[in-house]
Amino acid sequence: VDQTYIMIKPDGVQRGLVGEIISRFEKKGFKLTGLKLFQCPKELAEEHYKDLQSKPFFPKLIEYITSGPVVCMAWEGIGVVASARKLIGATNPLEADPGTIRGDLAVQTGRNVVHGSDSPENGIREIGLWFEDGEVCEWTPVQEPWLKE
Ligand code: GTP
Ligand code: MG
Repeated sequence: VDQTYIMIKPDGVQRGLVGEIISRFEKKGFKLTGLKLFQCPKELAEEHYKDLQSKPFFPKLIEYITSGPVVCMAWEGIGVVASARKLIGATNPLEADPGTIRGDLAVQTGRNVVHGSDSPENGIREIGLWFEDGEVCEWTPVQEPWLKE
């Protein structure tokens, strides 16, 4: 079963979109296994986005992600990594399809409200980066037999 790291960025928190965004993953049928509000230190933001280190927008990206609290989430489910990316939509919100989180709720790449891991390997890596031992819960949702045959 795959795991993905989803993060509501500071703009999503400031704009009061936390409930709306969590709701989309809940309603889809994925399992929430980790959740916290967190002020991200600069070093963690740099580690999380280290693949983008050489990009011209990197300093602005780090400033953005550390500009206020974020909501850190771990979600579990078969195919959750790719499916969450579809629910989130394209990086540029103006190109994101209507019905996606970015397509419905944002207008700029630099304020695109939510992050989602881009591979199952990165899902595991990022959950390890953002959560301490014991912060991720294993549990069985009562609705499971109604979601999976
Ligand atoms: P994440 O889920 O946040 O990783 O977004 P992504 O996978 O859709 O895009 P990518 O990993 O390529 O970029 C990470 C984040 O950097 C984006 O979500 C944006 O917030 C930011 N970013 C990417 N490209 C640009 C850019 O051209 N300008 C600015 N200002 N920010 C950018
Ligand atoms: Mg990315």
